[in-house]
Amino acid sequence: SDRRIFVSRRLPEAVLAPLRSLGTVEVWPEETVPPPREVLLEAAARARAMLTLITDRIDAEMIERAESLAIIANMAVGYNNIDVAAARRRGIWVTNTPDVLTETTADLVMALLLAAMRRLPQAERALRERQWQGWSPFDFVGLDVHGKRLGIFGMGRIGRAVARRARGFDMEILYHNRRRLPEAVERGIPARYVDFAALVQESDVLVILAPYAPELYHRFNREVLYGMKRGAVLIVASRGGIVDEAALVEVLRAGHLAAAGLDVFETEPIPPDHPLLTVENAVLLPHIGSATVETRLKMAERAVDNIVRVLTGRPPRDPVDADGP
Ligand code: GLV
Ligand code: GLV
Repeated sequence: SDRRIFVSRRLPEAVLAPLRSLGTVEVWPEETVPPPREVLLEAAARARAMLTLITDRIDAEMIERAESLAIIANMAVGYNNIDVAAARRRGIWVTNTPDVLTETTADLVMALLLAAMRRLPQAERALRERQWQGWSPFDFVGLDVHGKRLGIFGMGRIGRAVARRARGFDMEILYHNRRRLPEAVERGIPARYVDFAALVQESDVLVILAPYAPELYHRFNREVLYGMKRGAVLIVASRGGIVDEAALVEVLRAGHLAAAGLDVFETEPIPPDHPLLTVENAVLLPHIGSATVETRLKMAERAVDNIVRVLTGRPPRDPVDADGP
């Protein structure tokens, strides 16, 4: 029977070519509007493979309707948009695109950290608004980055790549993970393991890089945010929902935190009336951690490669479950 391969957004033809020799490729035609739920339901029911983005929620109901689905290849390192447990029950592979975006995302984390601490967007906005009066001792002053203590919540591949960059800024690295890394790995970074409370209390800059999990929902609540050092900086670069954004607004407005930088939000795109949009000391980016020409191409190729492998009878390269479905 004809094999249908559903691709949820337009991608370069050259990237899709390997799929075209394996079946009928259906590409959702809109550039920026994600396929609505009915389209995904239909695709899950009929397709043999799906290439999805983080904006496509693939839930248990969709997966239950799948008749011949063998793989859901997410074009992202994160995959909390997919009900992986439901896929596992139906014997469907779920894959992500690790490694290819690690360095690119770490670059963006440093850019966001630098922008938030040195207030680059605020300074640039002022200049464009013709507000720059000339050099002045205390205009546009931010915080030193070098020599500060950087706390990483979620020391995975991206965290290690951030730590490597931060060492070049003479930063001291702390981290907290659910599971501590082997000591040899810690020494190699080098980074010091601390419990969650110490990470919160001791970091000058705290970067959230943990993948989303329900138990992390609002882990950074009002109490935790007020538990950070006065004048500290919070960077959020993995997923929204881990930080209570209403509490963050309060803590920034109160001046307890000096600044925050966010590339991810609990609701994306950020709602137009979101209070964060009016907070001067917050730097807000539209989820662009992996957004370079080179890396987005590699991510698309990697997702396609996972599909090709499964449709030609091999295990995928990047199953999110080590044990497979
Ligand atoms: C983007 O957020 C990703 O998970 O790759
Ligand atoms: C993401 O995959 C990470 O390992 O940090």
